[in-house]
Amino acid sequence: MINKTGINIDLKDRVALVTGSSSGLGMEIAKYLAKSGATVAIHYHSQKQPADQVANEINSNGGKAKVFGGDVSNRAEVESIFKSIDVELGPLDILVNNAGIDGKRQLCGEDNPDDWENVIAVDLMGPYYCAREAVKRMKKAGHGVIINITSVHEYIPWSGYTAYSSAKAGLSMFTKTLAQEVSELGIRVVSVAPGAIKTPINKDVWGNPTTSKDLMTKISMPRMGETSDIAEAVAFMASDMASYITGTTLVVDGGMLLYPAFKHGG
Ligand code: BGC
Repeated sequence: MINKTGINIDLKDRVALVTGSSSGLGMEIAKYLAKSGATVAIHYHSQKQPADQVANEINSNGGKAKVFGGDVSNRAEVESIFKSIDVELGPLDILVNNAGIDGKRQLCGEDNPDDWENVIAVDLMGPYYCAREAVKRMKKAGHGVIINITSVHEYIPWSGYTAYSSAKAGLSMFTKTLAQEVSELGIRVVSVAPGAIKTPINKDVWGNPTTSKDLMTKISMPRMGETSDIAEAVAFMASDMASYITGTTLVVDGGMLLYPAFKHGG
């Protein structure tokens, strides 16, 4: 893809898997990687129809995409997704661990531990299962990129979301530790940390005037993020333009981490 400044993000001949690409961030990331030339494995858990739609859109615009279903928190299902990709698309070059859930807002002690476990299973175990399948293949090829979609909540505590924040902070450390493990094998591992991006995951917040006003006080720039803000960052991180970047997080949050409440007072 030639971007606005004429710099080329070229993912031609690369095969990419984007988990959770039937909606929100994952859907946009899949489209951007395809526009940049990659063959994309669209992954869904429960929403096959929108996944098929994304793949059709990519294929009818001259790109290449196929749909794969399964639960990232189930090791056997992850193994079978990767085996199907081997057969149908060839060796994987890029893994984007995007599938994730916020979980219900619940205070610790008043919560249901099953919900906590489920968030950890999807947001932390899922990326781990996918990364270990990817690493096995990338080791053989001598190259590859793994991008973990974390969140500003790898840094910012978030009351009511202990599972989510813990999973994202854990995923960030997984990025660093795995990057250290595989750096001499030609494999890069990075995180992209979105702030408040307008997607279905947080529609109850941006769709309501009171909570949306509160949210804006938490972002330095005067707008929420768009899915394209994240997709562009991921396409860059996946490309050879980022070939010396590993084990770190690219934060894409419009300055949420700048403590905007400190613009005044203190
Ligand atoms: C969450 C969103 C939230 C944002 C900022 C993200 O990681 O998924 O629901 O709006 O962080 O708090």
